[in-house]
Amino acid sequence: MPVQFRSGECIPLEMHKVRMVQRLNLLPVEERLKASQEAGNNTFLLRNRDVFLDMLSDSGVNAMSQDQYAAMLQADDAYAGSETFYRLEDAVKEVFGARFFLPAHQGRACENIISKCFVKKGQTALMNFHFTTTKAHVILNGGSVIELVKKEGLQVKSDLPFKGDLDLERLQSEIKTLGAGNIAFLRIEAGTNLIGGQPVSMANMRAALKIAKEAGIMTVFDASLLSDNLYFIKTREKEFANKSLNEITLEMGKLFDIIYFSARKLGCARGGGIVTNREDLFNEMIGMVPLYEGFITYGGMSVREMEALAVGLREGLDLHVIEQTPIFVEALVNELNKSGVPVVTPAGGLGCHLNAMEFCDHIPQKEYRAGALAAAAYIAGGIRGMERGTLSEEREADGSEHLAEMELLRLAVPKRVFTLSQIKYVVDRITWLHENRRLIGGLKFTFEPKILRFFFGRLDPVSDWPKKLAEKFRKDFGDSL
Ligand code: F0G
Repeated sequence: MPVQFRSGECIPLEMHKVRMVQRLNLLPVEERLKASQEAGNNTFLLRNRDVFLDMLSDSGVNAMSQDQYAAMLQADDAYAGSETFYRLEDAVKEVFGARFFLPAHQGRACENIISKCFVKKGQTALMNFHFTTTKAHVILNGGSVIELVKKEGLQVKSDLPFKGDLDLERLQSEIKTLGAGNIAFLRIEAGTNLIGGQPVSMANMRAALKIAKEAGIMTVFDASLLSDNLYFIKTREKEFANKSLNEITLEMGKLFDIIYFSARKLGCARGGGIVTNREDLFNEMIGMVPLYEGFITYGGMSVREMEALAVGLREGLDLHVIEQTPIFVEALVNELNKSGVPVVTPAGGLGCHLNAMEFCDHIPQKEYRAGALAAAAYIAGGIRGMERGTLSEEREADGSEHLAEMELLRLAVPKRVFTLSQIKYVVDRITWLHENRRLIGGLKFTFEPKILRFFFGRLDPVSDWPKKLAEKFRKDFGDSL
């Protein structure tokens, strides 16, 4: 909860206390340099024991509450008809107001099922913006993706409070050009991940869905990042200031044909699920669950995680629970901004997004500005972020690079995991890195997988810049870690 100190300073006060901890290591910079080399300069390949602050993702690493852990003990192990499933189904129905629920082992599994069922060869999926796994599934099923986010969504600095909103005129014109029959569905992603965790307004969702429904196009909501989006609807959209988070979620439940989510994010557990009110769609999808996930009363999830998820989904309707990430992100973004570090504004959810396009403007985009910045942030502070730029794109069919519109380094802020002094440490080390940014150089692939190359790809620096960066750190910080 933001509170004001005597000085007037506003502090993102933690509305929880820590009752279980994990010891962290902060390696000396020389060892961080070595760990980065061993990981092919790809932060996905670092070992967690070598990482001080793991800001790679919030996926599956949010802090769980005591009630979630307690609920895990009552898990009912059964292949079919587990009581745990019915408890989870009740929670999902209560939160979204939906009639049908299909469990899946994580968010991309839901995307596989939805794409397999509803993307026909040659069809297009319209979206505010793609997520990596979403786009891959649409393409694997012979479809393509068109993104309709407003132009401000792709501008690093903007005052628009809902940068994830769709451009409604473009939506109308794409429907006209393509013809509704060639459109698989309209997908709206809450807390738009790849453009900086930026929210979508309820007003925009309502308007976009009206257009889609009138054209007879199915609508899909990716609610993986719903918590942050709810916070922003409540705090930035006047109409909802006095509405409960459940009332807002129930309205979303009414709007969309299908809602799916990664429960590694939503509900602070590990799993996923698909929700719908339409029996016809439910019947089309249900066969895919035992085929790809597991029986329909567990869908590849552990029953213990399902119990934790049932509690976590309900807890996610409490403002004090969900606000911790957005107010920490805001503190991080504002402090970095004040120090002149280029960041995506306004602060969104999920994490702080450094603008590598500008931070590393001396590096050719083909040498992966955001990827280089990710390696440098690890060397500078043991901070593990995630590249969200050209490296995360697939190459064009002719093998040429698809240069991303945005080159971001995401520093995720998992829910209720970090303390304010750790956030201040990030501000300090990233600011130092910015002051020394000319020392950062580019990267080139030594091993480049064909699909989702950013996960396992290995890269070499184009020069010995990581060594020079580590030497400068040692010079500036003396014996400090
Ligand atoms: N949709 C969105 C918006 C996501 O952010 C993610 C995952 C998925 C779908 C896929 O869900 O991981 O459970 O299979 N995002 C993670 C991240 C990986 O780090 O942002 P999943």
